[in-house]
Amino acid sequence: MPSLDKILTIEEMMAAAKRKVPKQFFDYADSGAWTESTYRANQEDFQKIKLRQRVAVNMDGRSLATTMTGEKASMPVAIAPTGLTGMQNADGEIKAARAAEKFGVPFTLSTMAICSIEDVAENTSKPFWFQLYVMRDRAFIERLIDRAKAAKCSALVLTMDLQILGQRHKDLRNGMSAPPKFTPRFVFEMARKPGWALGMLGTKRRSFRNIVGHVENAGDLSKLSAWTANQFDPALSWKDVAWVKERFGGPVIVKGILDAEDAKAAVAHGADAIIVSNHGGRQLDGAPSSIRVLPEIVDAVGNLTDIYLDGGIRSGQDVLKAMALGAKGTFIGRAFLWGLGAGGEAGVTRTLEIIQRELDITMALCGERDIRNVGLHNIYSIDLPPRNSPLGANG
Ligand SMILES: Cc1cc2nc3c(=O)[nH]c(=O)nc-3n(C[C@H](O)[C@H](O)[C@H](O)COP(=O)(O)O)c2cc1C
Repeated sequence: MPSLDKILTIEEMMAAAKRKVPKQFFDYADSGAWTESTYRANQEDFQKIKLRQRVAVNMDGRSLATTMTGEKASMPVAIAPTGLTGMQNADGEIKAARAAEKFGVPFTLSTMAICSIEDVAENTSKPFWFQLYVMRDRAFIERLIDRAKAAKCSALVLTMDLQILGQRHKDLRNGMSAPPKFTPRFVFEMARKPGWALGMLGTKRRSFRNIVGHVENAGDLSKLSAWTANQFDPALSWKDVAWVKERFGGPVIVKGILDAEDAKAAVAHGADAIIVSNHGGRQLDGAPSSIRVLPEIVDAVGNLTDIYLDGGIRSGQDVLKAMALGAKGTFIGRAFLWGLGAGGEAGVTRTLEIIQRELDITMALCGERDIRNVGLHNIYSIDLPPRNSPLGANG
C-alpha cells in the first residue's frame, strides 16, 4: 500500500480505497444505475474536449481562488453530498468536512449521512452546506431545515433528481445496508480490512444520524430502512423550491438539473444557483453526461444564475474544462470518497491536493493566470455532438 503522498492520481486513490474499504461500501460508491452507461459517459466525455495550449505568456502569480455562492473557495471545487460517507471510513463526514475546511473549499453534508448535522457542526469551525432530500414527512423536513439553520449551515443544496430511487445492481447483489448486516461474507471482509473494522468499532456513528431519533417510526434498523425507502417524495414540484427557500432563509442551490427547460424553471422558482448533475450516473441511466449538457444550460440561464457542475470529475483538467465551458465551480463525489476510504482526513486532503496541482499546471499551460478568466477561448475542440432531439431545439 503506497503512502498517501506517493499517490499521484485519483485513479490510484480509487485503487487504494478498494484495498481498504469492505466490498459492499466500495461498490456502493463505484456504481451507477442499470448498465452504468451514464456513469461511464460522465468521465469519458471529458476526454473528448481538447485544450488550447499557449506559450510565452507570463505564468507568474497564478490564482485558483474564487467564490461559490458568496463564499471564498481556494479553488472552484466543492465536496458533493454523498450518503453513507461514514461507512467509507469511521466518522467519514467529520473527517471530510475538516479536510475541506482546512483546504478552504465548501463541504456539503447529505441528508443520508452517517454523521448528523450536529455531529459535523460540533467538530468543525466554519459553516458547511447541507443537502436536502424533500420527503413525504414534511414535519420532519421542516425540523431538518431548522436544524441546518441552527447549525449555521450557510447554504442548502436541494436535490431534485431523486424523487424515486434508480436501481444499482451491485447494491442489490451485495445486500447493502447501514450498519452492515453481519453475514459470513461480511465478517470475512472485516478480517481482510482490519483498519476499517477497528475504526468502526471505535465510533458510535454507524447509522443515519440525521434521521434516527428524529422521526417516530424509524427507531430500529429494520423500521429505518422501510421508512427511508418510502419517504422520497414522488410529488416533489417546483413550488417546493420556494417553500424550502422561505423556511431556510439563506441561499438554495438546486441540484440535479440536466435540461435547459428545468434550468429555466429552477431559476424562475428562486434557485440561487444550480448544479448540472445526473447524480453521478446513479439515477437515469441513458441520460447524457453532465459535461455534455453544460453548454446548452449555460446558454439558457448562464446570465441569470451561477451554474456548477458535477459528474465524472477525476482531475484538475476536468475542473478546468468545466470552467471553460461556463461553470462557476464544480463538485466532486467519488474522488473525495476514495480519498476518505484510502486515508481518512489525510486522504481527502490528498485528493484535493492532486486536483489542485493538476488544475494549476493545466491553467498555466493554457496561458491563464486567474481561474476566473478561463473560458471558451481555452478550448481547442469539443468532440461531443450537440443535442439532437426528434422534437427540435425546444422539444
Ligand atoms: C456513494 C454516493 C452517494 C451519493 N449520495 C448522494 C446524496 O445523498 N445526495 C445527493 O444529492 N447526491 C448524492 N450523490 C451524488 C453526488 O452528490 C454527486 O452528484 C456525484 O457523486 C457526482 O459525480 P462523481 O461521483 O463522478 O464526482 C451520491 C453519489 C455517490 C457516489
